[in-house]
Amino acid sequence: MKTQILKMLRTCESYVSGQEMCEELGVSRTAIWKCMNQLKEEGYTIEAISNKGYCLKETPDTITDYEVKSRLSNLGMLDELVYDQEIDSTNNKAKQIGNEGDARQLLFLADVQTEGRGRRGRNWSNPKATNIAMTYKLHPNIQPQNASRITLVAAIAIVEAIKEVTGLEAKIKWPNDIIIDRHKVCGILTEMSSESDFIHYVVVGIGINVNGEEFPEEIKHIATSLYLQGKKKVDRAALVVAVIKAFETYYKLFLKTEDLSNMTSQYNSYLVHNGHQVKIISSTDTLEGVAEGINAKGGLLVRLDDGTQKEVISGEVSVRGIYGYV
Ligand code: BTN
Repeated sequence: MKTQILKMLRTCESYVSGQEMCEELGVSRTAIWKCMNQLKEEGYTIEAISNKGYCLKETPDTITDYEVKSRLSNLGMLDELVYDQEIDSTNNKAKQIGNEGDARQLLFLADVQTEGRGRRGRNWSNPKATNIAMTYKLHPNIQPQNASRITLVAAIAIVEAIKEVTGLEAKIKWPNDIIIDRHKVCGILTEMSSESDFIHYVVVGIGINVNGEEFPEEIKHIATSLYLQGKKKVDRAALVVAVIKAFETYYKLFLKTEDLSNMTSQYNSYLVHNGHQVKIISSTDTLEGVAEGINAKGGLLVRLDDGTQKEVISGEVSVRGIYGYV
């Protein structure tokens, strides 16, 4: 009911009467009144004027399912959004529900993660009311070996969503770190449960550093937030909505071909290393060359010093600019 109430208040020209809400939602005045009070307790400023009705004056910075849903005309490819104020990890929750056999396409959102996970077993911290932790549980009917490409699809969507909401020009550090000014602002962790030719689910976890003002000593040199970059607090729900919309667009394009052929130009235009000298570090050796963009499979093409072009496959290596992290 909160979703519908917020939607009505948000789309109203001015005031919405209690009567209109009761009729539209098919509930009693008391039910509306209770819901209004809950929203007020959560930080919404809702003005109530007798004989006129209600008007939404201010929205708190929150990414609850109902706040996000009230800003969307429909859920598109998603069956539902699931919000937890606090959770160990949205990826863990998505996987747990996937393992129980739930076949719905879901988006999990959380304000706080107590055991957020990054790639290579790293931690991903999520303090209260600061960042975005969101995880898609998807059920694509594609070959399992192509699923990791969804990470690159998400990276494009996030760059475009950040631009739309903040005006900031984020870049992609191949394959899937989002950076601004040589510092990481977002990471993506994609996990999958599959058989040899069938995907049970793909989980795409996105962590965006949004309104943080400082970082722990150990990651200070590589991490940043949208607030630190733009010097303005960012409306997190607006950013979640923008990611949802952009991701749906690119994900649908991806499903047509199971590769990035319909979006390589976008990806390459956001690729921070494109045309620059990079180091390709594997467990056995380090190569240097000039990055020439990705191909449709999501591999990074690098022109080596001997003139040959090498396709670097993600997962095998890490790529660095010649001066450090980027
Ligand atoms: C990385 O190492 O760059 C990936 C970080 C991914 C963090 C996100 S936050 C939402 C989701 N839940 C997790 O536990 N991890 C991902």
